[in-house]
Amino acid sequence: MKNTRRDFVKKGTMASAGLVFTPSLESKGMFNIFNEKKLKVALVGCGGRGSGAANQALQADENIELVAMADAFEDRLTDSYNNLYEKYKDTGKIKVKDKNRFVGFDAYKKAIDLADVVILATTPGFRPAHFAYAIENGKHVFMEKPVATDVPGIQKVLKYAREAKDKNLKVVVGLQRRYQENYLAALEEIKKGAVGKLVGGQVYWNSAGVWVRPRKPEYTELEYQMRNWYYFNWLCGDHILEQHIHNIDVANWFLDEFPVSAQGMGGRQVRTGTTMGKSLTTTS
Ligand SMILES: NC(=O)c1ccc[n+]([C@@H]2O[C@H](COP(=O)([O-])OP(=O)(O)OC[C@H]3O[C@@H](n4cnc5c(N)ncnc54)[C@H](O)[C@@H]3O)[C@@H](O)[C@H]2O)c1
Repeated sequence: MKNTRRDFVKKGTMASAGLVFTPSLESKGMFNIFNEKKLKVALVGCGGRGSGAANQALQADENIELVAMADAFEDRLTDSYNNLYEKYKDTGKIKVKDKNRFVGFDAYKKAIDLADVVILATTPGFRPAHFAYAIENGKHVFMEKPVATDVPGIQKVLKYAREAKDKNLKVVVGLQRRYQENYLAALEEIKKGAVGKLVGGQVYWNSAGVWVRPRKPEYTELEYQMRNWYYFNWLCGDHILEQHIHNIDVANWFLDEFPVSAQGMGGRQVRTGTTMGKSLTTTS
């Protein structure tokens, strides 16, 4: 986190809050890593995580600027812009002109067009389409997990991941444990044989409730679902994919292969309201 881009060029590696670049890059969009040209970032999905990721990207180096933002909803974009602007107004890093704040379903294309690197942090159901557009247009990507919510979506992401590799574009997914020192240290010990050969394990995800954004008369059903995406599987992928992905990923990563068999067990004691997906006819 403390490394500047120059340190990275010297040391040959940098991992900063999810944005990882490698020094052997020859890709056109990344040449500015070696000089003073500003790296232009666009944020697609200006909610909690997207705003956080933009904030982290802006801290990664002095030659980074935010040039475009996109969101389905104007209020989310405005809040995010105002917060980022307030924080960075003295740095000149927020270069998002009024005309480059895009709202609506096509907003992502307009923002991506203006950037070298894009942050994709909408609700996951839209990720495959956004990722495909970014790669087709030669952009480096930081995208949040999960990368899709269904099989066609996953297949699309895999297809464009291959295309990204062919084009030497850099893609990082927000599975942050892979950059977390305690996980890396534990993995190192395991590789040295500290616990013998791994033959199995358990991964858990216990969590409390997630927000509900109350329905407003002016919302269409689609807007209500998008604002409450945790409770709609076409947008979220459900708990195992959306949250437990982190720890299932750790299992696969530490094992360095996929398990030959797996069992799951779950319970539901917290998200019990009808606004949280509980059916009105369910009795328990
Ligand atoms: N790595 C992590 O630890 C971590 C933590 C939190 C969230 N996330 C991930 O980040 C993503 C966003 O989560 P969040 O908590 O920020 O949710 P959020 O609801 O706060 O933000 C999502 C934003 O995307 C916008 N959006 C939705 N559909 C859009 C579309 N088609 N085009 C443009 N904008 C659209 C919404 O209006 C909203 O502003 C999710 O995939 C979530 O799993 C990851």
